[in-house]
Amino acid sequence: MIAGSAAAASAGLSASTVFLSLLVPALVLYYIYFKISRRHMIELAEKIPGPEGLPLIGNTLLLLGSSDTMFRNLYRKSFEYDQIIKLWLGPKLLIFLMDPRDVEIILSSNVYIDKSAEYRFFQPWLGNGLLISTGPKWRAHRKLIAPTFHLNVLKSFIDLFNANSRTVVERMRKEGDKEFDCHDYMSECTVEILLETAMGVSKSTQDRSGYEYAMAVMKMCDILHLRHTKVWLRPDWLFNLTKYGKDQIRLLEIIHGLTKKVIARKKQEYKSGKRNILHDTEQSSNAKTAKITSVEGLSFGQAAGLKDDLDVDDNDVGEKKRQAFLDLLMEAGQNGSVLTDEEVKEQVDTIMFEGHDTTAAASSFFLSVMGCHPDIQEKVIQELDEIFGDSDRPATFQDTLEMKYLERCLMETLRMYPPVPVIARTINTDLKLGEFSKPDFIRLENS
Ligand SMILES: *[C@@H]1O[C@H](CO)[C@@H](O)[C@H](O)[C@H]1NC(C)=O
Ligand SMILES: *[C@@H]1O[C@H](CO)[C@@H](O)[C@H](O)[C@H]1NC(C)=O
Repeated sequence: MIAGSAAAASAGLSASTVFLSLLVPALVLYYIYFKISRRHMIELAEKIPGPEGLPLIGNTLLLLGSSDTMFRNLYRKSFEYDQIIKLWLGPKLLIFLMDPRDVEIILSSNVYIDKSAEYRFFQPWLGNGLLISTGPKWRAHRKLIAPTFHLNVLKSFIDLFNANSRTVVERMRKEGDKEFDCHDYMSECTVEILLETAMGVSKSTQDRSGYEYAMAVMKMCDILHLRHTKVWLRPDWLFNLTKYGKDQIRLLEIIHGLTKKVIARKKQEYKSGKRNILHDTEQSSNAKTAKITSVEGLSFGQAAGLKDDLDVDDNDVGEKKRQAFLDLLMEAGQNGSVLTDEEVKEQVDTIMFEGHDTTAAASSFFLSVMGCHPDIQEKVIQELDEIFGDSDRPATFQDTLEMKYLERCLMETLRMYPPVPVIARTINTDLKLGEFSKPDFIRLENS
C-alpha cells in the first residue's frame, strides 16, 4: 500500500517535472526569440517613456479590474508622462500619442491605415466594413459612400431630425424629476433617425426593433471592450467557451436581424421601381451661397480650413443626383460588379453602428454636462429663445447656424468627452514623429 502510493506520488512528480522541464525551456526560448527578432523594436521602445513593467508580462497588471477602475488607473498614470507613453502588454508594444500634431501624422496619412489587431473582434459583427477594411478596398468603398453623408444630403433630412427630436423630448419628459440614464433615450433616438434617413425606412413600418437594436449594440460593445483588455478572452476558441461568447451569438442575432430586415425591405422597394432621389433644387440654384454658409457654419475645424474628404469629393457629385446611403448601396449592389451582397450587408452593419453610436454618446455627454452646469445651460436656452421667440416652429438649417453658443458647448463637450477616445493603428515601418526628438523613430509591429 505504502509502496504503491509512493510510486504514484513519484509518478505524479515525474509527470509534472517533465511538463515543467518542457515548459520552462519553451518559455525561455520564446523569450530569447522574441528579444532577438524584435531587437530593433525593443531598442526604439527603450527610448520612449512609460511605466516600469514586470518581466514577460510588462504592464498587463494595469489592465486589471473593472473597465471603470482600469480607465481611472490609466488616466491617472497618463499625467506622470508627457505627450507619448509606451505600454508593454506581454510581447505587444502599445504607443500612446497625445500631441495632436503627432496624431495628425498618423491619421492624415495614406500609409498608416492598417487598423490595429484589436479591431478584429468586430469582425463577426461588421465583417469587412469600413471600420475594419484597409488598402484599396477601404479607399474604394469610402469614396463610394462618402458623398451620401454630404452636408446637402443631411440638410434634406432636417424635417426628420425635428420630428424625432420632438418625440424623444416628449418621452423623456415623462420621466419627470426622477433620475434616469439619458443614454438609453439618445441611443434609441439616433437609431430611429438613422433608419429613417440613411436607410430610408419609414417610421410607420417600424416597431421597437430600433430600441432592441440599440440595447444589443451597447451590450455587444461591453463584450468587445472586455476582449480588448482581458487577455484570456482574446483567443476565439477560449472566448467561445465563455458566457460572453454565448451572449455574443444572441446579440448578433438581434443586430443582424435588423440590418437584414432593412436590406430586404429596401431591395423589394428597389425591385418594384421605387427610387429615392433627394430633391436638390435649392442646392443647384444657389450652390455658391450654400457652400459658403456650410463652411462657416459647420464647425471650428472646417472654418479653420481643415477639410474632410467628404468635401473634397464635392465636384464629383455636384451635378449628379444625390442619394441616401442605402439607396446608393442598392444600386451599387444591383450591378454586382461594384458591391457584392455580402459587402452591402457589411457596410450597412458598419454604418448602422457607427452612424448612431457616436452621435448617441456625444448627445448623452452633452445633456449630462448641461445638467452639471445650469448656468451654461441657461445661456444656451437664452440663445434659443432669441432665435425662436415664443414660436414652437421646427428648426431650419439656417437656425442651426445661429446657435453659436450652443455649438461652442457641443465642441467643448466633444473635447472633454470624445465619443471615440482611442483610435488604434498598426505601424509596420519606422516612423518619425515631428515634435518628439528623443526617439527619432518608432516602430510598432504586428505581434
Ligand atoms: C467561435 O464561435 C463563432 C461563432 O459561433 C464561430 O464562427 C467561430 O468559428 C468559433 N471559433 C473557434 C475558434 O472555435
Ligand atoms: C449600374 O449599371 C447601370 C447600367 O448597367 C448604370 O447605369 C449604373 O450607373 C450602374 N450603377 C453603378 C452604381 O455603377
